[in-house]
Amino acid sequence: MSVIKVAILGFGTVGEGVYKTIHSHAQELEGVLGSKVEVAAVLIRNKQKKRNIDEDVLITSDFNEILSLPQLDVVVEAIVDKEPTFTFLKQAIRRGSHIITANKEMFAHHGNELLELAESHKVSVGFEATVAGGIPVIQTLRQLLNVNRVGTVQGILNGTSNFILTEMREKKQSFAAALRLAQEKGYAEADPTNDVEGFDAFYKTMILSRIAFGKEPNWQNVEREGITSITRELIETAEKLGLRFKHIASISKIGSQINAAVKPTLVGKSHPFYGVEGVENAVNVHSDIVGRITLQGPGAGMFPTASAVIEDLVYVCQNQLSNKNFTNITEACDGEKKGNEKELWLIQGLSKNDNNPLITWVAQATDETAIIQASREEIEKLINQQKATCYFQIIGEYEKEIKNKEVTLAVL
Ligand code: HSE
Repeated sequence: MSVIKVAILGFGTVGEGVYKTIHSHAQELEGVLGSKVEVAAVLIRNKQKKRNIDEDVLITSDFNEILSLPQLDVVVEAIVDKEPTFTFLKQAIRRGSHIITANKEMFAHHGNELLELAESHKVSVGFEATVAGGIPVIQTLRQLLNVNRVGTVQGILNGTSNFILTEMREKKQSFAAALRLAQEKGYAEADPTNDVEGFDAFYKTMILSRIAFGKEPNWQNVEREGITSITRELIETAEKLGLRFKHIASISKIGSQINAAVKPTLVGKSHPFYGVEGVENAVNVHSDIVGRITLQGPGAGMFPTASAVIEDLVYVCQNQLSNKNFTNITEACDGEKKGNEKELWLIQGLSKNDNNPLITWVAQATDETAIIQASREEIEKLINQQKATCYFQIIGEYEKEIKNKEVTLAVL
């Protein structure tokens, strides 16, 4: 019986989860691959730290020792930062090993180079764990893209942010306490700035864009905002209006242009993201044959992320062509047009007495907060004129909900 030898780089939440799952699901892996899977080496930073790793596994902080192993079939990377990770993975590919990564920042920056290098060395790259934790979104999109044309992709892509927003609303926790809990549970990045300022979701969005549309928008043109401006008061006001804050990434293709944004957005009860709570992520894809589908599941944490890596282990060991549907995809269909039409917004600091001709009042939420209808351009004008302090878009069928009196509002 042949053996597949794996090295795991990093033994934090993800690395440890992969190590444990290779043991707990050894039979299933052997069943599907026809070979035993063995962890041959683990790359760690601190040699003094006690870890529960079998004695026959090489534990080292020198990647060259791993590269020198007589057999190295797969390198699983579960560390953070772009470097030295990118360099390690290039070395692994050149040595003839398949690679699997969970590192979205590195992959958003260097994914194309790694895929090209892997192709020239006839090895595979697995990156399912870079986006939406345990949800098999990459493979699903690949499958969908065999024939379907995708127009729009929306997602809740950061588990930590969604967890914080849920804790603040349900348990009236402060932002800081909710973030601490997300860190204790292993959801947050080593530097949680990436989570709460929207960088993590931004990198995932760029990876999804390449899968869905074969290219990315210019990074400079992508609106990126995290959740740090969302106060408990805002969350309570939204709740009274039947709305919830979600940190939403959206990408769509209009003509040859890709538009993307990552920011806090409000959704009403009929939106598929309304009930996506805690560390859950969700991805909603609109494509021309199937219409709209939503995938939902745990977006972070030890075993959900390990699940994505383990599925990739099967994928790369079967030596699937990594570039499939990454650079050569079916034509996209046009996404929903977001031109200058009127949309709904929750806006703060705008006085109704202003009698502003730019906007239509829909409802007054508090003395400070109202729901208005206006185009994006008009909203930006109000902010520039300092007539309003902040604004959040409301997406979905909320207007109909108001008309159906599903929410009690002092409609003006
Ligand atoms: N910190 C990330 C999150 C981990 O909270 O979504 C999974 O990518």
